[in-house]
Amino acid sequence: MQPDPPPLCKAPEEAFVRDHTRLRTVPYLPELRLHQADDPYGLGEHIEDTGLPYWSFAWAGGLALARHVLDVPELVRGRTVLDVAAGSGVAALAAARSGAREVTACEIDPYAAAAIRANAEANGARVTALCADLLDSRPPACDVVLAGDVFYDKALSRRIEPFLRDAAASGALVLVGDPGRRYLPRGAFTALARYDVPVSRTPEASRHRRTTVWQVPAR
Ligand SMILES: C[S@@+](CC[C@H](N)C(=O)[O-])C[C@H]1O[C@@H](n2cnc3c(N)ncnc32)[C@H](O)[C@@H]1O
Repeated sequence: MQPDPPPLCKAPEEAFVRDHTRLRTVPYLPELRLHQADDPYGLGEHIEDTGLPYWSFAWAGGLALARHVLDVPELVRGRTVLDVAAGSGVAALAAARSGAREVTACEIDPYAAAAIRANAEANGARVTALCADLLDSRPPACDVVLAGDVFYDKALSRRIEPFLRDAAASGALVLVGDPGRRYLPRGAFTALARYDVPVSRTPEASRHRRTTVWQVPAR
């Protein structure tokens, strides 16, 4: 008799994601389900080094971007898409659902990469989770770059803005979702759509945030 095959081996981060979240629909995005934490700050105390688990809920910027990509699927249909600083992968999942040909979601946090894999599986979406920092290199060749809520931190903003501009200059459609974070380059991008997205009281201060989907100009 053949021995039972070994159980499918998941990275410890993926087991952590599944054990500490609930798979729930996302407010404003009934099309998608995400592994979400009831209390992200409490969950952060269980994780060494990485702090607040940014991947354990969808940020306002990512929510608006995902809503836009679901509402205007022609933006991504049949195209290659990179979701950079993807968190839960919410924008990547929306792109996959809207018919993108190939979707990559990139993160520096291995827990986020694990959450993206778990969320892709939960939604039956084909999304490649890449755990890497691409911001100091030329943007990889792709048709569309999505960046949800990436202007909350000065150091990240300084690095990601030139990356996004390079991608746009190379011919990619570059879309940013942002609820007015402090380091958003004011007056530099073109507003495409605005959404009042529901957010949880933690970490935001109110129940809704007016959030804009911006296009980064080609030059
Ligand atoms: C505020 S969260 C936004 C997540 C997601 N885009 C959303 O809107 O829900 C920002 C994310 O950027 C990721 N991040 C920070 N620096 C990064 C880098 N150099 N490359 C890739 N991801 C990065 C963080 O780990 C975090 O998950």
